[in-house]
Amino acid sequence: MIGIIGGSGLYRLEGFEVVERLRVRTPFGEPSSEILVVHTEGIKLFFLSRHGEGHIYPPHLVPYRANLWAFREFGVKRVIALSAVGAVNKRFKPGDFVVIDDLLDLTKRRKDTYYEGKFSSPVSGEDKVARLLKEGKVVHIDASQLYCPQMRSHLIETLEELKLSYHPSGTYACTEGPRFETPAEIRFIERVGGDVVGMTGYPEVVLARELAMCYCGLCIVANPAAGIAGYRLTSEEVINLMKQREQDIGRVIRLLVKRLSHMRSCGCEKILEGAEV
Ligand code: HPA
Repeated sequence: MIGIIGGSGLYRLEGFEVVERLRVRTPFGEPSSEILVVHTEGIKLFFLSRHGEGHIYPPHLVPYRANLWAFREFGVKRVIALSAVGAVNKRFKPGDFVVIDDLLDLTKRRKDTYYEGKFSSPVSGEDKVARLLKEGKVVHIDASQLYCPQMRSHLIETLEELKLSYHPSGTYACTEGPRFETPAEIRFIERVGGDVVGMTGYPEVVLARELAMCYCGLCIVANPAAGIAGYRLTSEEVINLMKQREQDIGRVIRLLVKRLSHMRSCGCEKILEGAEV
């Protein structure tokens, strides 16, 4: 089962039929939004709006743990995460898609794990994740390949087939927000290897991986990062760009989910093997 997370400006999926709206509670609180069950060409998907309807959750207050846990309850094994980003790499232009392949975490105050040892939240379930949490285990997951290689290669093929302007790799730097970055912070990110900057990519990917899900990040460049464009950044610019790309995003997702309608063969589900102390 595939779950899609929509970012800024993406509160629904263009051209998809909504067949059900689900409200859930999780041991980690309520997810950001109701979960939409959507259909496209006979395939059933789950869709969640990261910032909630009416964009009520700022990046640092998004209930990331509840969101991924809600997906887990519905049997989601693969997550496609959509997000607007600023371009740090000068080759990346507004409107480009980026299939990210690595992460720099620059956040400061987010709950970024399910595994809190003896302080873990009580959960139900019989699988490995539930056992690790019930037994209060300390778990260190590998982060050397956070983004599913199989999903990434399907995504690249999809962008190629649709002849969209894209970059097949890129390091995502996640800042705490909610303010945009300073020019000095962007120069720092550039020097340490960041290509794009956003405020929501972390801890989302890590939480998905802690639940042994596959995760891929499809970023849409909304603006040149602070100090690069030489003008003041606004949320308006970001939302407008995302609205312009809405139809192409819908086309990418439709084709991608068709390509993903087969078994996982990437090894992502084995991430918890050997991870507990
Ligand atoms: N910085 C952080 N997050 C963003 C940006 C940015 O420039 N653009 C879109 N999301």
